[in-house]
Amino acid sequence: MNSRPVAFLIAAFTAPAVVLAQAPGHFPPDSLINVKVIPKSTPVMQVVGMMRNFTGALGVRCPFCHVGQEGQPLGQFDFAKDEKRTKLTARQMMRMVEEINHRLDTLPEHEKMTSHVEVTCNTCHRGVSRPMPLEQLIMETAQMSGADSATRAYRALRERYYGRASYDFGEPTLNIAAFRLARAGKFDDAFVILRLNEVQFPSSSNLSTFRGNIDLMKGDTAAAIAAFREAVKRDSTNGEAQGRLRQLTRP
Ligand code: HEC
Ligand code: HEC
Repeated sequence: MNSRPVAFLIAAFTAPAVVLAQAPGHFPPDSLINVKVIPKSTPVMQVVGMMRNFTGALGVRCPFCHVGQEGQPLGQFDFAKDEKRTKLTARQMMRMVEEINHRLDTLPEHEKMTSHVEVTCNTCHRGVSRPMPLEQLIMETAQMSGADSATRAYRALRERYYGRASYDFGEPTLNIAAFRLARAGKFDDAFVILRLNEVQFPSSSNLSTFRGNIDLMKGDTAAAIAAFREAVKRDSTNGEAQGRLRQLTRP
């Protein structure tokens, strides 16, 4: 007989908590729950501003690191939860950036300088979550999935990122990728990547020099001579190509 009111009381006291747990409710939250790098007393709106900088620097949105669905109201996200690898990595990155900036404070005559450059997420990330240099990305894609995939990847990235700081679409990138592929013995892939570059920089003397050097690595002297001649034709001051030609055509 007595148990009823007691059970009711317990229900009455626990119900709001249950409701809260099921519907975290509003955004921004009232306070910080699980911060390990950001000081707990930081105003929540300042933390949200910091988070917006993360998304811009990495070219991602909140669910990249936090538990929640794209398009869902932010009030339904569980921002405190440490579930995603990316959030744990980001925390390490925050510590790393702090360390770097402390080190910068120790530079000679740092105090006297009138302006300081602080390292931020964007210094390295520049709009991408995994800031890999384009030559490495192309070389790894070619090695893992072939030169055609690498070509498609290059075109897609250029389409999306040209004019941004994320990737360097200048001439050296694909020359370097091709050279590294050749050094790994992947000559066919190297030539496919060079041809892709040739389409964009058809009159580059330097590109022809790379081609000649890769021909040499492969042991194709005739092709190397042709490539170095083309390089000199494109730029009569190309000393490297001239030197190679002298060596290769010495009687
Ligand atoms: C690159 C990963 C990353 C992205 C993207 C990101 N966050 Fe965070 N967020 C973190 C990390 C890491 C912490 C914990 C920081 C700490 O431990 O001091 C955090 C903490 C928070 C907190 C505090 C949670 C608590 O414990 O009280 C809020 C709120 C938050 N983020 C909101 C956002 C919002 C809103 C977005 C999108 C605009 C966002 N975050 C995008 C990594 C990220
Ligand atoms: C000094 C350069 C540098 C700075 C500054 C930097 N990062 Fe990174 N970050 C990297 C590199 C390099 C990687 C890739 C590591 C790998 O995958 O091998 C990376 C990877 C990450 C990843 C994992 C991405 C993925 O797709 O796996 C996250 C998340 C991240 N960084 C967040 C941040 C945040 C947030 C900041 C600022 C607080 C930051 N980083 C600042 C260099 C940097």
